[in-house]
Amino acid sequence: MSVFLITGGAAGIGAGIAARLVQDGATVIIADKEPAVCAGARSVICDVTDEDEVQSLIDGIAGAEGRLDGIVCNAGFMIRKPVETLSLGEWSSVLATNLTSTFLLVKAGASMLRASHGSVVTIASTRAHMSEPDTESYAASKGGLLALTHALAVSLGPDIRVNCISPGWIDTQHYRIRPEDHAQHPAGRVGRVEDVASLTAYLLGPDSGFITGAEFILDGGMTRKMIYAE
Ligand SMILES: NC(=O)c1ccc[n+]([C@@H]2O[C@H](COP(=O)([O-])OP(=O)(O)OC[C@H]3O[C@@H](n4cnc5c(N)ncnc54)[C@H](O)[C@@H]3O)[C@@H](O)[C@H]2O)c1
Repeated sequence: MSVFLITGGAAGIGAGIAARLVQDGATVIIADKEPAVCAGARSVICDVTDEDEVQSLIDGIAGAEGRLDGIVCNAGFMIRKPVETLSLGEWSSVLATNLTSTFLLVKAGASMLRASHGSVVTIASTRAHMSEPDTESYAASKGGLLALTHALAVSLGPDIRVNCISPGWIDTQHYRIRPEDHAQHPAGRVGRVEDVASLTAYLLGPDSGFITGAEFILDGGMTRKMIYAE
């Protein structure tokens, strides 16, 4: 049975990915700062920015499950603040969570992933490519994560595949979505956590064996839509 580790799986997209992988019959470990409630998954409290906590997490999987077939590096957050008032501490906290955590997780998990010929999926964002104002730390972290993805794919292949999903707007129940929010998308709707979960399951599994170092834009067509004010 495959063993998958999902970071940030206590809520939102990560919770949806964890639920999908449990449904597919995998053994799932959720690592999050908050306790995760997901039937069939093992929840571990872990701050993925802390190297010692990440090492303990991986050691715990080696002890309990004895193997690791994939990591989904999903934990992340955004600070939206004018650059003139963004502190170095705020900048660094976003980079630590959204980018450095993937380095820590893959470094600690590489030997088990090599043994299983495993797969890593990073969750970046279309904000790696385009921006709204006041999102510098988030955009930089996701652009860095995209670059880290292809660097890892080249370094760790052929043993380990590493791919990136860049979601656009995914409904995680934080906002009330209006009809016009759906309608502006070429696909006719805002994304769902299930959209990210099904692509993640594909990238973790054997059917995607020829795909590594790739980015998948999952945004209902928004980054292909040319927008000029009339
Ligand atoms: N929702 C969207 O529209 C969207 C779009 C593009 C990219 N993303 C990315 O998808 C990922 C998930 O987003 P979401 O919308 O589900 O967010 P969310 O806030 O609903 O969930 C994020 C989870 O990560 C956990 N987390 C945060 N920092 C952590 C840390 N240091 N250690 C461990 N766990 C930590 C939180 O506790 C939370 O459970 C993020 O990387 C986000 O940047 C989301």
